[in-house]
Amino acid sequence: MVRFSRVDAVTRTERGIRAELHGETLEVDVVRDDVVRLRISRGGAFDDHPTFAVCVDPLSTPVAFQVEHDDGAVRVRTCALVVTVELDPFCLDVHRADGTPVVEGLRDDEGRCWSFATLNDAFEVRRRCTPGDPIWGLGEKTGRHNRRGRAFTLWNTDVLDPRASGEFAATVTAGDPRADNTSTQFDPYYMSIPLFHHQAQPGGPIGASFVDNGYRAHLDFTAPHEYRFGFDGGQYTEYVFAGPDLRSILAAYTWLTGRTPLPPLWALGFHQCRWFPYTQDALEAIGRRHRESGIPCDVLWLDIDHMDGYRVFTWDPVRFPDPPGMLERMAQDGLRVITIVDPGVKAEPGYCVFDDAVARDVLCRTEQGGTYLGQVWPGLTAFPDFATPQARAWWGELNAAHVRTGVAGIWNDMNEPATGAVDPLPMRFDRGRASHERFHNQYALLMAMGTVAGLREAMPDLRTFVLSRAGFAGIQRYAANWMGDNMARWDHLALSIPMGNGLGLSGQPFVGADIGGFMGDCHGELLVRWTQLGALTPFCRNHSAAGSIDQYAWAFGPQVEAAVRDAIQLRYRLLPTLYAAFVHASETGVPVQRPLLLDHQDAADLAEVEDQFLLGEHLMVSPVVAPGATRRTVRFPAGGWYDGHTGRLVVDGSSPGTTERWVDAPLQRIPLHVRAGSVVAMWPEAPPTTSGYHPVVIELHVFVPVDDRVHHSLLQEDDGLTTAALSGARWRSDLTLRRDGSRVVLQCSVTGAGYPEFAREAFDLVIHGASPERVEHRGTHLPVIDGHVRLPNRGESFTVSFTA
Ligand code: GLC
Repeated sequence: MVRFSRVDAVTRTERGIRAELHGETLEVDVVRDDVVRLRISRGGAFDDHPTFAVCVDPLSTPVAFQVEHDDGAVRVRTCALVVTVELDPFCLDVHRADGTPVVEGLRDDEGRCWSFATLNDAFEVRRRCTPGDPIWGLGEKTGRHNRRGRAFTLWNTDVLDPRASGEFAATVTAGDPRADNTSTQFDPYYMSIPLFHHQAQPGGPIGASFVDNGYRAHLDFTAPHEYRFGFDGGQYTEYVFAGPDLRSILAAYTWLTGRTPLPPLWALGFHQCRWFPYTQDALEAIGRRHRESGIPCDVLWLDIDHMDGYRVFTWDPVRFPDPPGMLERMAQDGLRVITIVDPGVKAEPGYCVFDDAVARDVLCRTEQGGTYLGQVWPGLTAFPDFATPQARAWWGELNAAHVRTGVAGIWNDMNEPATGAVDPLPMRFDRGRASHERFHNQYALLMAMGTVAGLREAMPDLRTFVLSRAGFAGIQRYAANWMGDNMARWDHLALSIPMGNGLGLSGQPFVGADIGGFMGDCHGELLVRWTQLGALTPFCRNHSAAGSIDQYAWAFGPQVEAAVRDAIQLRYRLLPTLYAAFVHASETGVPVQRPLLLDHQDAADLAEVEDQFLLGEHLMVSPVVAPGATRRTVRFPAGGWYDGHTGRLVVDGSSPGTTERWVDAPLQRIPLHVRAGSVVAMWPEAPPTTSGYHPVVIELHVFVPVDDRVHHSLLQEDDGLTTAALSGARWRSDLTLRRDGSRVVLQCSVTGAGYPEFAREAFDLVIHGASPERVEHRGTHLPVIDGHVRLPNRGESFTVSFTA
């Protein structure tokens, strides 16, 4: 690598400074008080659009800053941070205003600094750190959530296909778990998100780096005193976030790369999927079976066998003689259908999608100008050139026509892109002008952009739903992600927890793993434990591979079925609370599923907890991750905690830090705890589907605080379907619960304009942690009967109080 070692000149710019070095230009631009962008030109020119991740003009917000010069350095200072450019030797550091390091270039023993080095098209950055510093994020990665001690590649990979993953397995020594693509350590995975958080010492402040570059990347966190990242091509463009906490980093990062839009409520229901050659009758029968068994279900999925010879946007005419009729009948029963849409278009003259693509010149080319061909399900396949707006628009039209037939959403698979036996590298983009490497990791993002534009065109008033396997930074704007092809094994169940947490800390809150496991045969206990876990993750879908045994809720006998039913019913009852978590995610970027770390960053003893997570603001989920277990230990962050099933206070918050307890986890239920001070909104029953369900009563479970702080909770009621909620057609209840000695006050302030389907007439207040005989409401007393208070309410603000 050729190190950049000396700055020749520095000038002030509108947003910071520009430094000349090695014939290139370094720009330091203030983005916000707590965010700076660092970038270095290539061949003297800047690439202003290195990827499609950033969706705002990062320099559009005015920021106050000063530029200071001294003998050897130039500094750019905002109220939150200072960027230091040392001139000779060149070194680049960012510190917070209090002097704590955010990023520091590595100085080696010879006094050289490694802030930036290049070799041909590649570049590398090396940074200083101390041995215990944790690293979080990086999107969908295997293994422990703390990335320290390991090295990673960012290259979207169809993990289970050895033709795609073999090159990575081959780089490690035999015996290393990474040699096995089914191991829970394998790397790389389906998605690439070049965002990572660096905590300067456990429990300390956190800063983050987002490198806006889609090329293959290598990140190495194995050394004790340095970490490094390198990209095989493209421009060095790094956004540095000073933090110092994860919420503020994620708010800034998702401002830059976008937030998950509020999903339709049905997308938060239970999804049943299977790679199986269903006929339309068989699919309808699966729907009916859910209804007969009392297992709530909103969506049934159709995998590749629904197509005519795996040709995308077609139906097999024998198995599906009447798709509109089938979709209509299922809709009557509150069931939606999502079909798979792979990017690979069967390369077959006479197939209208292929012919149209050729006519419009929207397919990826080779260097020689021919159509690139890969080998996927239908045989030889061409790939849309999603790097062009024309290809995205064309793909959008196809998707629009598809959903107009009654399909509810789109499932994008194989979009790494997977090319089977054929090398992907000759696939060029932008009408042959751009290399494969530039767009490989962005392919799924670009595909989702086109898809969603089409769906919005076809159903402008409705919220859209797309599920994607691969992704890049920004994918959260368009799609949810599932974690790809996992195994029906306990270690993969356990892996899904840190993987989901990692995705949440990387800006993608809408995630879930295939419940029951994709490859291999599931069994009753595993299905129960996985459904219990999956029912409390953001996206909840049972899915399995062709050739595996049935893993429907009813597949393993009545005891398993009952436990699976309970788990899914619990999800449905909790939907108002899950929905509130999505409202927060869509407005602030805070993840729905989050590691304990997110809310307890200073508790170093919680940072490494991998088998528990928080779901939204109030719930803590502690899944069972091993066979035969009926008890487990749970770590409780500081504060009071209630058992979510019994409503009993289990940790009273009297000890200042983390508490560890054994809790019971019989097969029938997952350990679930609620933070004291929460108000958990629940539906009074689990409806068979969210479709058409507008409850007359909503339960507000009041978990009496153990301290005198003010606790906030949210309930948002809207039609769950249209975008009208975003412009005020909703009731938004901001709930504050406060305790003052023995006095407990619940205040609910309501905003919004309401919506036509609103049917609520009352709240059912359910009090946990106190047994008052009555509560006060507007100068009168309402009786408490068996812990419940009936409070007539049709969307008005209210205050109630009682004595604990
Ligand atoms: C891929 C997907 C999987 C799907 C299968 C067949 O393996 O990850 O979910 O079932 O292809 O389409």
